[in-house]
Amino acid sequence: MRRLSAILAALITATSVAGIGVRGQTATSVWDGVYTDAQATRGRAEFSAHCAGCHGATLDGTGEAPALAGAQFLSDFNGLTVGALYDRIRTSMPQDNPSSLSREQYANILAFMFRSNAIPGGAKELDRRSEYLKAISFEATNPHAGATLH
Ligand code: HEC
Repeated sequence: MRRLSAILAALITATSVAGIGVRGQTATSVWDGVYTDAQATRGRAEFSAHCAGCHGATLDGTGEAPALAGAQFLSDFNGLTVGALYDRIRTSMPQDNPSSLSREQYANILAFMFRSNAIPGGAKELDRRSEYLKAISFEATNPHAGATLH
């Protein structure tokens, strides 16, 4: 019994230390201004040319292609990284011609998708390198606003 409580106590300590460690880091989330407005505007033109035919000009989805703005889209990628979303798009979209765009075009399109989901931009462009984007967490809700999207 003594031994079990000791193990439990150690476990609880380890878990809380890990929790503090994660929170204490200056982790970047998608809500920290990770793209520029100019980049999103370039992305809008590229989205119209390469994605809107299936996903709709206002990202609301058409037929088989799901909406890329709104609660469903946000929750599909919630808890993943921006890198995971970027690679998913880069390797599988446009569905009729995957990987046909440049990394820069995919980054611009992603910036436009963020803006369309009311995720605010900032001073720095969204990087085109997956390894950098993997350091940015994708969260459905803005941790700074304290509000939830439903
Ligand atoms: C020929 C039609 C077509 C085109 C063009 C197209 N898509 Fe798609 N897209 C689909 C279909 C169908 C799905 C659902 C099947 C799947 O998940 O692969 C999808 C799924 C997605 C998803 C996953 C959404 C989710 O919530 O799981 C993303 C993100 C996406 N597309 C982004 C893009 C982007 C960005 C472009 C332009 C570069 C693009 N698509 C072009 C048809 C298309």
